[in-house]
Amino acid sequence: MCGIVGAVRKDTSAMPILLTGLRSLEYRGYDSSGIAIIEDKKLICVKKVGKVAELEKEIAKDVYSGKVGIAHTRWATHGIPSEKNAHPHISTEDVAVVHNGIIENHEQLRALLESRGYKFSSETDTEVISHLVHYYLSQENDLFSAVKKAVRELSGSYAIAVISKNAANQIVVARQGSPLVIGLGYDEMFVASDASALLSETNQFIYLEDGDVADIMREGCVICDKTGKSVHRAPVKSELTAEDTSIGGFHHFMQKEMYDQPEAVKKTIESAMKNGVIDERAFGAKAHSVFRKISSVQIIACGTSYHAGLAARYWIEPLADLPCNVDVASEYRYRNPRFRKGTLYVFISQSGETADTIACLNMVKKENPDAHILSICNVAESSLTRMSGLVFLTRAGKEIGVASTKAFTTQLVSLLLLTLMLGRIRKTISSKKEKEITKKLLTLPEKIEEALNLDSKLRALAPKFVSKEHCLYLGRGIEYPIALEGALKLKEISYIHAEGYQAGELKHGPLALVDENMPVIAVAPNDSLAGKLQSNLKEVRARNGKLFIFASPDTKIEKDDGTEIILLPEVDELLAPIVYVVPLQIFAYHVAVLRGKDVDKPRNLAKSVTVE
Ligand code: G6P
Repeated sequence: MCGIVGAVRKDTSAMPILLTGLRSLEYRGYDSSGIAIIEDKKLICVKKVGKVAELEKEIAKDVYSGKVGIAHTRWATHGIPSEKNAHPHISTEDVAVVHNGIIENHEQLRALLESRGYKFSSETDTEVISHLVHYYLSQENDLFSAVKKAVRELSGSYAIAVISKNAANQIVVARQGSPLVIGLGYDEMFVASDASALLSETNQFIYLEDGDVADIMREGCVICDKTGKSVHRAPVKSELTAEDTSIGGFHHFMQKEMYDQPEAVKKTIESAMKNGVIDERAFGAKAHSVFRKISSVQIIACGTSYHAGLAARYWIEPLADLPCNVDVASEYRYRNPRFRKGTLYVFISQSGETADTIACLNMVKKENPDAHILSICNVAESSLTRMSGLVFLTRAGKEIGVASTKAFTTQLVSLLLLTLMLGRIRKTISSKKEKEITKKLLTLPEKIEEALNLDSKLRALAPKFVSKEHCLYLGRGIEYPIALEGALKLKEISYIHAEGYQAGELKHGPLALVDENMPVIAVAPNDSLAGKLQSNLKEVRARNGKLFIFASPDTKIEKDDGTEIILLPEVDELLAPIVYVVPLQIFAYHVAVLRGKDVDKPRNLAKSVTVE
C-alpha cells in the first residue's frame, strides 16, 4: 500500500535519502507522493500527484537542506489522488504527518477537532492525526508525549511518522497493525515502512511491535510499548542487500522475477534439505511434534498466495490423507468458522503483512491460544512470521513487481515439501515414495529453466491477444488453481478481463460466452484428467472458440485451424503446476507490454495490502 520513509541525519542531506527511499517504496503505492523537511525552524512540504519522478522534478527546481524529514508514497484509500490528499499532512504550519493504514474513527475525530477550531484541507482520514498531535503539542510542547496522547485516541490501523518544526532533531513514530522499522545508522537514524527503503544506508533494523511509539533522534531512540512502558527491542541484521532490489539488465522487475524462479526454487528446496533428505525442522523446531498431532489442515491467504493454497489441497488430501480447507482471508475472518482442535492453520503470504491474513491469524489465536500455526512467508522479519509458532521461509528474494511470480512458485514448492513432511510423519507416504518425489523435486529448477525458454514463442503469441477484452482460462484438478493464477496475471497487468474456470464447469455457464472472439487458454499437461479436459476443449471448438493449449510434448490433443498448442517440457504430474504457471506468467507479461501497460505498477493495485 503506501510507503513511509524518514531520516534524522547528521548533516543537511535528508532530502536525497528520502527520495532514494521513496523510489524503492514506489512499488507499494504510486498515485501521489510528498516530502516534508525542517529547514531553519521552518516546515517545508512538497507534494505531487503521479509517480515519484514527478516529485523529483519538482524538488530539483530548488535546493533543500534539512537534517530531518519524512516522506510518503500514497495508494489512495480516503479521497482521490490529488495534491491536497497526498501526504504529508500539515497542521498549523507546525506538525507534519505521514501515515499508512486507515483511521476508522476519523469522522468523529474530525468533528471534535473542527469544534476546537482546526480547519481541514483534505478528504483523508490522516489529517485528523496531524491536528490531534498539534492539539496536544500546543498544550505541553513535547512531541513524543503529544504523539503518545494522540494515538490513544485513534482506532484502526496505522504506521505514522511525525515531525514538528520546533523539534528539529527528532521524528516520532507509532505502529498499530501496519509495519514500521527503525534503521540504525552511524550517528544518524532512519525509519521506513519497509526495510528495503533503507538498504543504501544500513542493514541494522529494529522492528516495532503493535502499540509501540518511538522517539527517534540522531544518537538513538526511545521506544514505549502499548502500556506506555519503555522497552528494549533488539536490532536485527537484515540479509537483504541493495542488489536484491535492483532490476539488473531486465526491462521490468516482473520480468527479472520470472527469470529468478529457477534459482529461487532451488534455494527454497535446498533450505529444507539436510544430507540429501528433507528435514522437517525446516518448518520449525517443533514441527515434528505438531505435525504428529494434527487431523486436518486449514489454509488461509489472499490473492496469488490463495491460489498456492488451492493447489496444495490437491497434494495434501490424497498424499497426507488429511482433510484440507482453503479460504480467502477476507472471507474467513467474517464467516464465523468452527475451530477444531487438531487443525494445522497454514497462513501463506509473500509479504507477511497482508491485513486480512494477519487478522485471521489473530482471530485463530484468540479463539484457541494453543492453535497449531504455520506461516509460509517470504519475509523473515514480517509481522506474520513473528506471530507464528512454525514458519517456513520461501527463498524467493525480494519481490517488487506487483504481480507475484517467484513468490508463487516458491510457495508451491514449500507446500509440496509440507505435504511430504506430513505424509512422512503420518506414514501415508512411504520412504521409497518420498525419495522418488524428492528426486523429481530436485529437477524442478531445470524444468522451470526449460519453460522460460518458451519466452520468444510466447511473445510471438501476444499480438493475438492485444486487442481482446475477455479471455477464459481452463484447468482441471490441480491445474484449475493454475488457470486461476494465469487469469489473475493477465487481468492484473494487461487489464484484459480474464476468468479462470474448472473446465468441467464450462457447460454450467461460461460456455455461453464462447464464440469466435473469445480466446480460451487451457492448462493441459498429460495427467490423469487429460482425457476429460480434452472433451471440454472440444465443446469450445464446437462453438468456434479459439484455443491456446499449454500441453505436454506427448499430448493427445489434436491441432486444427482454431487451436494453437504450446508444448511445455515433460514433467511429472505432481510437479506440473509449478512448471505450467511459468509460461502463463510470461504470456501475461508480453500481452501487457504490448498493450503499453505499466507492468510493475498496475493501476489501482498495491504490492502489499496492509489495510482491510
Ligand atoms: C496483493 C498483491 C498480490 C498478492 C496479494 C497477497 O494483492 O498485489 O500479488 O498475492 O496481495 O499478498 P501476500 O503478501 O499476503 O502474499
